[in-house]
Amino acid sequence: MYPVVLKQVGKTYHLDAVDVPALTDINLEIRSNCFTVISGPSGSGKTTLLNLIGCIDQPDHGEIVVAGQPVQTLSDDALSDFRARHLGFIFQNFNLLPVLTTYENVEYPLLLAKIPAAERTRRVLALLDAVGLSDRAQSRPGQLSGRQRQRVAIARALATEPKLVLADEPTANLDSHTGAAIIALMRKMQREHHVSFVFSSHDPQVQAEADDAIFIRDGRITAIERRTVSAEGIA
Ligand SMILES: Nc1ncnc2c1ncn2[C@@H]1O[C@H](COP(=O)(O)OP(=O)(O)OP(=O)(O)O)[C@@H](O)[C@H]1O
Ligand SMILES: [Mg+2]
Repeated sequence: MYPVVLKQVGKTYHLDAVDVPALTDINLEIRSNCFTVISGPSGSGKTTLLNLIGCIDQPDHGEIVVAGQPVQTLSDDALSDFRARHLGFIFQNFNLLPVLTTYENVEYPLLLAKIPAAERTRRVLALLDAVGLSDRAQSRPGQLSGRQRQRVAIARALATEPKLVLADEPTANLDSHTGAAIIALMRKMQREHHVSFVFSSHDPQVQAEADDAIFIRDGRITAIERRTVSAEGIA
């Protein structure tokens, strides 16, 4: 099963009296256990597409199915619950809570998901170890480097064991050396946790790592390159 399917999806923003078409006729299948990278010029619709896949925003028409669930049929409450259980997000500015420690930031989504204490501890310690931050568990984001903060954000995104992790320009605020290390870490986590990662990125280093490269321009998909074969084969 594809973790994400979009059929004839369209989205137009309404800005005062002006219609801004952001996405048109989007048909897309995201493969499981793959790195999918969405590329395109500024304003082409990358963030809009990620927001639709992440159930942060709704399309005007078309159908979006995430983890087998047609998401338009869910109420707002059910949608938040669905997001918390199935999706992980890595934001460009990391969005860590400044008053919480590294440990608490990674634990936070598990509290929201009402995971019991012993299981929370097990997962947080394992993830901090996997991203190499066990020794900074008690530091707050303000006491960490940019790369360390990004590693906390990766651990946090994986804490609820989602099948899909979404990241909007995850390396945009990092220098190229740091970006390469973060991509390698995300790749390792993707393989070990059998997760699908979907990124938007201008970064050639991220594009080079893609199993599937999706190119969009003016809100339309112009090319889909399936570069590797997965269990589902080349679609
Ligand atoms: N909230 C909004 N209201 C009105 N128009 C919007 C809104 N958000 C985005 N747009 C418009 O929709 C189009 C797609 O924007 P989007 O943010 O998805 O592009 P992007 O590919 O992510 O660009 P960038 O690379 O600069 O982040 C653009 O024309 C943008 O101006
Ligand atoms: Mg964007």
